[in-house]
Amino acid sequence: MAEAHQHIAALLSEERVFEPPPDFVAGALVKDRSIYERAEADYQAFWAKQAERLAWFRRWESVMDWQPPWVKWFVGGTLNASFNCLDRHVEAGGGDKVAYHWEGEPGEQRTITYKELLDEVSRFANALKALGVGRGDRVAIYLGMVPELPVAMLACARIGAPHSVVFGGFSSDSLRDRINDAEAKVLVTQDGGYRRGALVPLKANADEALAECPSIQHVVTVRRAGNEHAFTAGRDHWYHELIEEQIPDCPPEEMDAEDPLYILYTSGTTGKPKGIVHTTGGYMTAVTATHRLIFDIHDDDVYWCAADIGWVTGHSYIVYGPLANHTTSVMYEGAPDWPDKDRLWSIAERNRATILYTAPTAIRAFMRWGPEHPEKHDLSSLRLLGTVGEPINPEAWVWYWKYIGGGRCPIVDTWWQTETGCILITPLPGVIPLKPGSATLPFPGIQADVVDEEGNSVPLGGGGYLVLKRPWPAIARTIWGDPDRYVQTYFSKYGPDIYVAGDGAKRDEDGYFWLLGRIDDVMNVAGHRLSTYEIESALVDNPKVAEAAVVSRPDDVVGEAIVAFVTLKSGYEGDESVAAELREHVAKKIGKIARPHALIFTNDLPKTRSGKIMRRLLRDVARGRPLGDVTTLANAEVVEQIHDMVQTGARTEE
Ligand code: WTA
Repeated sequence: MAEAHQHIAALLSEERVFEPPPDFVAGALVKDRSIYERAEADYQAFWAKQAERLAWFRRWESVMDWQPPWVKWFVGGTLNASFNCLDRHVEAGGGDKVAYHWEGEPGEQRTITYKELLDEVSRFANALKALGVGRGDRVAIYLGMVPELPVAMLACARIGAPHSVVFGGFSSDSLRDRINDAEAKVLVTQDGGYRRGALVPLKANADEALAECPSIQHVVTVRRAGNEHAFTAGRDHWYHELIEEQIPDCPPEEMDAEDPLYILYTSGTTGKPKGIVHTTGGYMTAVTATHRLIFDIHDDDVYWCAADIGWVTGHSYIVYGPLANHTTSVMYEGAPDWPDKDRLWSIAERNRATILYTAPTAIRAFMRWGPEHPEKHDLSSLRLLGTVGEPINPEAWVWYWKYIGGGRCPIVDTWWQTETGCILITPLPGVIPLKPGSATLPFPGIQADVVDEEGNSVPLGGGGYLVLKRPWPAIARTIWGDPDRYVQTYFSKYGPDIYVAGDGAKRDEDGYFWLLGRIDDVMNVAGHRLSTYEIESALVDNPKVAEAAVVSRPDDVVGEAIVAFVTLKSGYEGDESVAAELREHVAKKIGKIARPHALIFTNDLPKTRSGKIMRRLLRDVARGRPLGDVTTLANAEVVEQIHDMVQTGARTEE
């Protein structure tokens, strides 16, 4: 281990630039930079060319119609996402190719071909229709990483019903709020899922949520773990019984390019999650093109995106992009350290994976566990690696490059968001020299910039706000039910034609982008977006809590750790048992991922004279930074007290 660290330190201090390896370049889809010039010369023509890789029922009349901030792509065109992911490959003779090599956490394996996937999707699409789901109806999906998850998504896409996938790690309250916001008609869930050997009672959680979800008419339950749960006659159905009754033939709906394909909720700066709406034509075009060009997809690749489909990464790069490209993927249900810390490497070895796409938080965990785990396995099939979700520390980058990639695989560090739908800043692995920690350059056709408070472009070498200055096909079209919030959140700071990402960034002298994290009250915990406000609301929801402020501090493994400052109502004592109770309360309100790592009980919180909690000061305290100017505070003394408490360890850590 010590030796490994010395080696990495040496590599880092060289500030090496990693040129695309010649062997990789020889076989790469993109070998020279002319694609950037062509796309820059006419970005609409570039995207139209990408759209031609899809099957359209009717060709578009115009490529783009931009009435800032509103944009439409492939206007007048019609297509079906599920047809593009399945039928056209089967019709072309590619039905026997494996779509997913699936592995359950307890160890079962399933191989699903494109033909099998098409049959099951068609059956389930018919089943949804039989339950009364039609074009435009919303279907909520609350499943773990089981094959029925992509089946359910594609079945919805087939009949034109937007899906809203809710991450299986979310609590029943989070599920309830998302179902109600979208007014979903049907919920698809499973009896139980496996996580680190334990059972996650998804159906029981769902039942709790459904007590307050008037829009839900039917619940479809996938049998996975065989655990007991309640069954409501007339409302509840078994997935396997429904599909048995249906024929494997369901004509795909002809959808308009701008019809919504799905809603996916993500955290913003307020307590209410935003229902990000993605459409059919533009989204499918952009995820298909970016997946193919960034991951250099060849016919014989075995591609593994080790994210959860409950997040946008899984929507775009486990389901829609890879399937539209007729790619063979690996899909794994469970935890990376179950039963042992080499689980991922054994799966990669057995399936001869050629591409692996995962998150920095996972890479930091692998690094902590040590190189002996990957070293037990033959990972020589890998030829390309990727990361997503947060900035990757150069040390973790080099570890990944050396111990997983064997020093031969380029790493694509891909920056994007739920709202952007597809990757926007990334290397193309055959042409762009890599710098550990930098997402490098905008994808062809994307115009990204770093601007100051007034919106002026910051010269190379400087930092500021990351913005996007022209539309791309996969940009979210709105926030479900709240177009004003869409305009306010993304297009108000610099005007309706400039998308504000909410991230800080700097560019170096070569124009490479270095992402600096969020500039708003959104945290990035283990690659998951959480809003400080949402966690504060959950804490205050507990009857013992008077007030709470949540900030983050950097953490070696999860990226940002959650620090909660809590003032209890009088009569309550801030001790270990209350801390444990509050953590559980947050888990129940939002999900386990949102549990504070540290809880600090204080008598008061620092406030401005107008009564606003000064989170900036608390962030300094949590990070052990010297305190800045506190003279504008109404209660300056409280900062000193809190500061002393943190210094003396008067807090509870998980
Ligand atoms: C962060 C995940 C640095 C960023 C696809 C963004 C990154 C937020 C990177 C979106 C990266 C994502 N480097 N930061 N390569 N990728 N981020 O919506 O702060 O879950 O705004 O989408 O993750 O998170 P979301």
